[in-house]
Amino acid sequence: MRAVAALPAEKRLALVDHPAPTLEHDTDVLVRMLDVGICGTDREIARFDYGTPPPGSDYLVIGHESLARVEQVGSAVATLKPGDLVVTMVRRPCPHPECRACRAGRQDFCFTGDFTERGIKERHGFMTELVVDDERYMHVVPSELREIGVLVEPLTIAEKALIQVWDVQERLPWTAPGTRPGDGHGQRALVLGAGPVGLLGAMALLLRGFDTWVYSREEAGDPKAQWVESVGAHFLSAGSNTLEQVAQTMGRIDLVYEATGASALSFQTLQVLGTNGVFIFTGVPGRKGPIEIDADRLMRNLVLQNQLVFGTVNAGADAFRASIDDLARMHGRWPDAVRTLITSRHAPEDVPALLTSPGSGIKAVVQFAKE
Ligand code: BGC
Ligand code: ZN
Repeated sequence: MRAVAALPAEKRLALVDHPAPTLEHDTDVLVRMLDVGICGTDREIARFDYGTPPPGSDYLVIGHESLARVEQVGSAVATLKPGDLVVTMVRRPCPHPECRACRAGRQDFCFTGDFTERGIKERHGFMTELVVDDERYMHVVPSELREIGVLVEPLTIAEKALIQVWDVQERLPWTAPGTRPGDGHGQRALVLGAGPVGLLGAMALLLRGFDTWVYSREEAGDPKAQWVESVGAHFLSAGSNTLEQVAQTMGRIDLVYEATGASALSFQTLQVLGTNGVFIFTGVPGRKGPIEIDADRLMRNLVLQNQLVFGTVNAGADAFRASIDDLARMHGRWPDAVRTLITSRHAPEDVPALLTSPGSGIKAVVQFAKE
């Protein structure tokens, strides 16, 4: 089978011949890959800053944002049948009995760090033709989402974040009575960054009724700014607005969804977070050395304004289910906008060059099969 792999010893990406998997357990499912998305993590792996092949392999098949079609199911598989469209989860549990998160099926909160991740850490990924995994890691996607289903995994980042936001903001009793869980009506959210994670996050916030602003480096009038306005959010260009101005324009910032990986920008934004606000970090910065921050101001605000800061990585089954439901709602509400998040489609042989040249557009997708 053809597969796109990272070869750490040679520090290069290549198409490799990878053995086709077969069903080994009665709960296994064999799927044919349709689309695999490319993200910042894949670029880091391509720079050999991240990513580890499975033990004993000299290459790692990359790719973790997938959409596939079920071809064959084991005898005990109850939830999937041939023909179903599925998205497969990324992380698998660590082996340690004392890891309560993994033992509870919540490896996205693994304590030990000995989890594995498909396409990233010690497990082959999805940029290949056929994949086998246990049914418990696969989620059915409705067939009307065939064109955009590859966005489910990147959307799970926002979904996991917003599940946690609701859990912690239940501390504010007036937001709860009579409102649907996660309801953001009357609240103001700021998204940092207009990449796929930021734009999907903006739509997830809009679906919950948040008045939503996106702050990014593009100028007003840029196609990304127009995209933001087309879904009903507001665009603020970093070139012409300081963060103090952003705070003034918004009035009060109840939630910040960081999707840039830029630490200086993030901590400047934390300084203008509103009373009782929540700040969510999703980006993983490279280590570029210390930056100066006004720690007294930050700490005073955190305490005197009951603020909350958290980071979030990976996603559990609840976030995958929420992501599929929300993607269907997004598709219903903004069909063109959702489609245009996918800005290019590529053949597998284009991936090595694609991942080692500067990215353009929003989401690039690799096509392994049409149907
Ligand atoms: C993936 C996550 C993964 C993380 C860290 C992200 O790109 O979406 O599933 O946990 O990288 O490896
Ligand atoms: Zn990713």
